[in-house]
Amino acid sequence: MDTKPLSSQDRILVRETTVDDIAEIVRHRRAMFEDMGVGDARSLDRMASASGPYWQETIAQDCYRGWFAMTAPKQVAGGVGILLQSSPPRPWEVQSRRAYLLNLYVYPGHRRQGIARLLTEASVEWCRREGFATVSLHASELGRPLYQSLGFEPTNEMRLKLR
Ligand SMILES: CC(C)(COP(=O)(O)OP(=O)(O)OC[C@H]1O[C@@H](n2cnc3c(N)ncnc32)[C@H](O)[C@@H]1OP(=O)(O)O)[C@@H](O)C(=O)NCCC(=O)NCCS
Repeated sequence: MDTKPLSSQDRILVRETTVDDIAEIVRHRRAMFEDMGVGDARSLDRMASASGPYWQETIAQDCYRGWFAMTAPKQVAGGVGILLQSSPPRPWEVQSRRAYLLNLYVYPGHRRQGIARLLTEASVEWCRREGFATVSLHASELGRPLYQSLGFEPTNEMRLKLR
């Protein structure tokens, strides 16, 4: 996978993630849910330890693209990813995969410096280049203002909780 810098802002470099980044992707995901107040320590730990095989398989099947914001060669400030989900052709998008943005996380010491914006723009730009008609996501309270400012709009999704 290509790991060259995709864009930079001051001293922040955005690079694509590889299969070697799974531990850091899982750290972001655990911290993201923790900051969102979703789950307790036990369920977050359980999620983290169950995640390795999922990401290994998903990356191996070319169903995930990720990006890290780097402040130094080995210093990750945050990350984001696009899950490529199987989807039947729809009137506005005939390709059989849909782009779903997830795993957006910036470490607290690096927040409010535009890093999430840089990451989100890099991932959306990739989706545009790949020909996707839309990018979907579920927004946290902290993430919503950023997504709104980038043009994301609420959709008609509904959900029935089964437990
Ligand atoms: C949401 C998050 C990724 C934002 O990261 P960030 O690097 O601080 O965001 P940016 O600096 O790029 O800010 C982009 C915009 O987001 C909004 N924003 C960021 N932090 C905010 C905050 N604490 N309160 C209100 N708005 C905020 C602002 O609109 C900001 O635009 P501005 O710079 O013009 O004010 C970060 O707070 C985070 O990791 N939170 C925990 C995990 C999470 O909620 N992830 C999103 C899951 S959907």
